Amino acid sequence: MVAEAIGSFEQTPRLTAFTSKYDYYLAGLTTLNDWEAEGLSLFEGKAGCMACHPSTAQVNADGTITPPLFTDFTYDNLGVPKNFNELVVNCPTDKGLGDRTDIKIPKSEDGKFKVSSLRNIEMTAPYAHNGYFVTLGDIVHFYNTRDVASEDWPLPEVAANVNVTELGDLGLTAEEEAALVAFLQTLTDGFGDMMPNNFVLPPITPLN
Ligand code: HEC
Repeated sequence: MVAEAIGSFEQTPRLTAFTSKYDYYLAGLTTLNDWEAEGLSLFEGKAGCMACHPSTAQVNADGTITPPLFTDFTYDNLGVPKNFNELVVNCPTDKGLGDRTDIKIPKSEDGKFKVSSLRNIEMTAPYAHNGYFVTLGDIVHFYNTRDVASEDWPLPEVAANVNVTELGDLGLTAEEEAALVAFLQTLTDGFGDMMPNNFVLPPITPLN
């Protein structure tokens, strides 16, 4: 019943506002600044983020449109290191999907966590399932350099099943990392409140 109650709350407009700057941008009601636009282009291109965090709207079977949710609902092990923060250091290792006991799960799912939505991500530090990354800049730097030896990242908390094909050595410059962060900051709801006359957001057109 607790899960049902939380699920119902999650469906209310308070958590499905879709009033971020990015939503207004998709609706043609505002423009992104140079940093944000560069970040979006990297997100959908060189950095490969949208492979797991889709940034485009989706047309449903009944013709309704779901704004971009920034998750494809799949699971991955990013190779996040163990968090030695005193608040969590003594917690047992969380194997994510691999720890489920209600259904039979093969070992090949150990260490995998569901792709998080990135909406309002600026508001919900720290990042990743164990809170290892303190800032958005930290986790973007990890995506970019996890497999770059000179960066000396600690070993993954769960070494099995780490995704080594889509992240780890993206070859982004420091400026490109900053642009990605600027884009992520456009995903915070409430942009409409800053617009004159409180525009009502029209239905958005899906991108291809
Ligand atoms: C292969 C799939 C995949 C790709 C590609 C990917 N992510 Fe993720 N992302 C995930 C998963 C899975 C998680 C949850 C990981 C966890 O909690 O251990 C996540 C979590 C995050 C989080 C933290 C969410 C939170 O609430 O703590 C941020 C921020 C993020 N991703 C940004 C990005 C950016 C920026 C890129 C591109 C550089 C990117 N992701 C590319 C799968 C992916």
